Amino acid sequence: MGNVTVIGAQWGDEGKGKVIDWLADRADVVVRFQGGNNAGHTIVVGNTEYRFSLLPSGVAQGKLSVIGNGVVVDPWSLMAEIARVRGQGLTITPEVLVLADTAALVLPLHRDLDAAREARAGAGKIGTTGRGIGPAYEDKVGRRAIRFCDLADETALEFKIERLLAHHQPLRHGLDLPEITADEILEQLREVAPQVAPFIQPAWRVLDAAQKANRQILFEGAQAVMLDVDHGTYPYVTSSNTVAGQAAAGAGVGPSAAGYVLGIVKAYTTRVGEGPFPSELHDETGEKLGQRGAEFGTVTGRKRRCGWFDAVLVRQSVAVSGVNGVVLTKLDVLDGFETLKICVGYRLGDEVLDYLPAGMREQAAVIPIYEEIEGWNGITHKARSWRDLPAAAVKYVRRIEELIGAQIALVTTSPEREDIIMMRDPFRG
Ligand code: IMP
Repeated sequence: MGNVTVIGAQWGDEGKGKVIDWLADRADVVVRFQGGNNAGHTIVVGNTEYRFSLLPSGVAQGKLSVIGNGVVVDPWSLMAEIARVRGQGLTITPEVLVLADTAALVLPLHRDLDAAREARAGAGKIGTTGRGIGPAYEDKVGRRAIRFCDLADETALEFKIERLLAHHQPLRHGLDLPEITADEILEQLREVAPQVAPFIQPAWRVLDAAQKANRQILFEGAQAVMLDVDHGTYPYVTSSNTVAGQAAAGAGVGPSAAGYVLGIVKAYTTRVGEGPFPSELHDETGEKLGQRGAEFGTVTGRKRRCGWFDAVLVRQSVAVSGVNGVVLTKLDVLDGFETLKICVGYRLGDEVLDYLPAGMREQAAVIPIYEEIEGWNGITHKARSWRDLPAAAVKYVRRIEELIGAQIALVTTSPEREDIIMMRDPFRG
């Protein structure tokens, strides 16, 4: 059996948490490789609902869980999350959780900057989660980030804080944010350092050993391809690479370790925050999708924008991320719709496009071309076998498969772990 990499293939919130949880049952190691506490994965096990933001979903099942170097980590948020899930009965020890020593930290000054910029951006705002993710990645690439390995070294820490403040003080001044001192930051880090210290390790060594011992690794992506900083709807994206290729760089393994790439796709489309969304519905149907699908963000509680399935976008995600198979989630939300629509192309002026162009203005201007598909009377809710699906639902799934150019490996039909239809086992490729 090989490894599996799970990524979102739309704009996030596709239901990755449930799929990852289901797969984690059969993996030995679960690894996060990008993003930070902007992510929100909900997992329901029995009567307990866990909400993970930074912790890899593997902790719900006591699997070795790694927060890789590609993740930006807010250590206070991490400790609060650990305390919360411990309160729900999970055991989080250094035997279960590894923090990459090279992962960059998200500090309060990153959150300040995120909020101040968004507040001033007016119509140009991105609609970030406000967690300081963008500014933290900027400092990482700008070579002034504080990393976990620095916490045990006061001299390095003092040097790095000076360097960081040389960049941030002028920015803060320009944005009317109060000055902060190096001592303040040092104090805050001194307090949290002993709490995170037991978990810090060279994560790449842990993963190297796991691979040599033929352990099954599950790479857990956050956000989604259309939010990728290169391949997404830039600038309305997150600040990391979310494509499957990032699993290798963000964990410290070779590219072939990513294994089978599983793209998670909702049976319709949603998006939170600003940015283009060609198949968005501003009518009752959009409202209905939102209500039936309980489309509110797990991190910020924001209402998600809803629309029809966009096969053009997903086909593009499949290509740029090398998706081998897809999980179609929330099919049951479409139960009872008389007709359904799938976006199969875009109109841009006189042109017909079969992909989403890169330019910001073009992305905002494309008009979806729809294909209408008959809905179904029966229910798919909680179906666990292909045979339980109404014929029209099977037709819808098959048509999507044809349009996106990737096989559908699994279909999910409720938030519960067991309500999954498996057509193909991702671990067996
Ligand atoms: P940031 O990642 O907080 O900088 O936000 C940038 C964009 O990504 C915004 O549109 C957010 O709504 C979106 N985003 C970030 N994380 C998630 C997620 O986990 N699910 C869905 N959208 C997200």
